[in-house]
Amino acid sequence: MKIVIARSEEEFGKLAFAEIKEIVYRDPACTLGLATGSTPIPLYKEMVKDHQENGTSYAKVKTFNLDEYVGLPKEHPESYISFMTRNLFSHVDIDMKNVNIPNGLASDIPAECARYSALLEKASVDVQVLGIGGNGHIAFNEPNTPFDSKTHQVFLTQKTITDNARFFDSVDQVPKSALTMGIGEIMKAKKLLMLATGKNKADAVYNMIKGPVTTACPASALQNHPDVVVILDQAAAAKL
Ligand code: PGA
Repeated sequence: MKIVIARSEEEFGKLAFAEIKEIVYRDPACTLGLATGSTPIPLYKEMVKDHQENGTSYAKVKTFNLDEYVGLPKEHPESYISFMTRNLFSHVDIDMKNVNIPNGLASDIPAECARYSALLEKASVDVQVLGIGGNGHIAFNEPNTPFDSKTHQVFLTQKTITDNARFFDSVDQVPKSALTMGIGEIMKAKKLLMLATGKNKADAVYNMIKGPVTTACPASALQNHPDVVVILDQAAAAKL
């Protein structure tokens, strides 16, 4: 596991982007695993800036997002497809046919999970971007999710609902459930790029890196992956 500590938000974005850029330059038809949340926004800003300044093309890039809320209309500003479109997809030359994200509006949720798992089974994700929850979750895999899990529906913990309430008008509007890539599928990516910022992540970051490998901290599964880069700010790294 390579651990890098950034000294500013700008440096954080640049360090994260350097990992992605290397892969896109090596293989313009690569597959990127993407994440939502506030943490990867500096990365997406750098991707957009580089696309505008240097013309790096995403025309052949395929993407898989980690998760999506259940029942939120796609046009809702907090749906993860809206988030991705606003922060990245609408600013680069990605072909939306190559974008994959679970459909939280599917009428048959188990069938939708099976469809996404089947796509991931065939895919070869070159790098998966990840954030970490204050409780150690990765994607929406909350504590005690099996490490071999596949795409499934989750009912969010009260902690995650409270953490995400900042994006909604009130806590009551936060969806109670989501579809998430499983830990087993996340771990299949060739490389994992874990991003964490802020002091509210410091305990989870410590448990991920220095704690025991246990489903009590889903992110501790990363200790079992051969190619992990962790990029932190100083606050998230404070307990290491
Ligand atoms: P955040 O979310 O980037 O908004 O902090 C990360 C997560 O909960 O996985």
